[in-house]
Amino acid sequence: MSFIENLFSLTNQTVVITGGGGMISRAIARVLLELGAKVSLWGRTDKSLQEAKNLLEDQTGLAVNIHTFVVDTTDETAIRAALPEVEKNFAVPDALINGVGGNRGKTPFIETDLQLFEDILKMNLIAGLMAPTKIIAKYWINKKIKGTIINLASMSSYLPLSGVWAYNAAKAGILNLTQAAAKEFAPYGIRVNAIAPGFFIGKQNRNLLLKNDGSGDLTERGKMIIDHTPFGRFGEVDELGGTAAFLLSQKAAGFITGICIPVDGGYLIDNI
Ligand SMILES: NC(=O)c1ccc[n+]([C@@H]2O[C@H](COP(=O)([O-])OP(=O)(O)OC[C@H]3O[C@@H](n4cnc5c(N)ncnc54)[C@H](O)[C@@H]3O)[C@@H](O)[C@H]2O)c1
Repeated sequence: MSFIENLFSLTNQTVVITGGGGMISRAIARVLLELGAKVSLWGRTDKSLQEAKNLLEDQTGLAVNIHTFVVDTTDETAIRAALPEVEKNFAVPDALINGVGGNRGKTPFIETDLQLFEDILKMNLIAGLMAPTKIIAKYWINKKIKGTIINLASMSSYLPLSGVWAYNAAKAGILNLTQAAAKEFAPYGIRVNAIAPGFFIGKQNRNLLLKNDGSGDLTERGKMIIDHTPFGRFGEVDELGGTAAFLLSQKAAGFITGICIPVDGGYLIDNI
């Protein structure tokens, strides 16, 4: 094995990726598979998981290293039940990528639908971090496994975006919980980090960033984002996997915990 392979290889690593049918989870899974990992994709519907699996098989030819399991990650019982399935198919998982999360539309503050606000908090904070992290960290502590967690933060973890109140609050919470959990789990050798993607066109933001007339033209909000991104473009989803691989590698990042890496084309350092 070359020096670089030794540094970044994920051979014999088993990684649970939640929101496994989602755009970012799938793109990260591809890179991890190519680096030798076995991935267990967890998602709410078998249909989305099978689509993800088929795509990853086409991209990597590594069907044997892809496991899928239907798990709603707000449901603690379902998460507990999924762990033996991962063990049975591969091994005790070494890593968790919390890929569940998202936003639904935007409104003026005073028009906020509080049920929707609560649903978005729940999706991002409970399903997207608390429930899987709580159960899997406990399972690792009991088994004395030095696992690794990656959370999905956002640009709105740092500075709120207009109109997406629950998403802002939740993503600020993701950054806070990443730091706090990293401190809590450090004595067990469990590392907790985050990635903050800039703007990548996907289900959660397509209607906010692109006009819905099929032209591919940007909305005013889309234009403002590009104007505030020094690289002058949206991200390509394949630009995220390398950061996840780096954070998962014990050899490359074994002394790194509690950080968040922005992958944002410079959005956070924009100035005049
Ligand atoms: N796309 C972007 O530009 C962007 C930017 C910053 C942060 N993020 C964050 O990255 C993460 C992934 O985003 P994405 O664009 O891939 O979104 P996505 O909608 O494509 O993927 C999210 C997946 O999570 C699943 N999901 C939702 N609730 C679930 C639950 N309770 N149990 C199991 N699965 C559930 C959805 O079905 C979906 O498949 C999110 O946390 C998002 O906020 C995305």
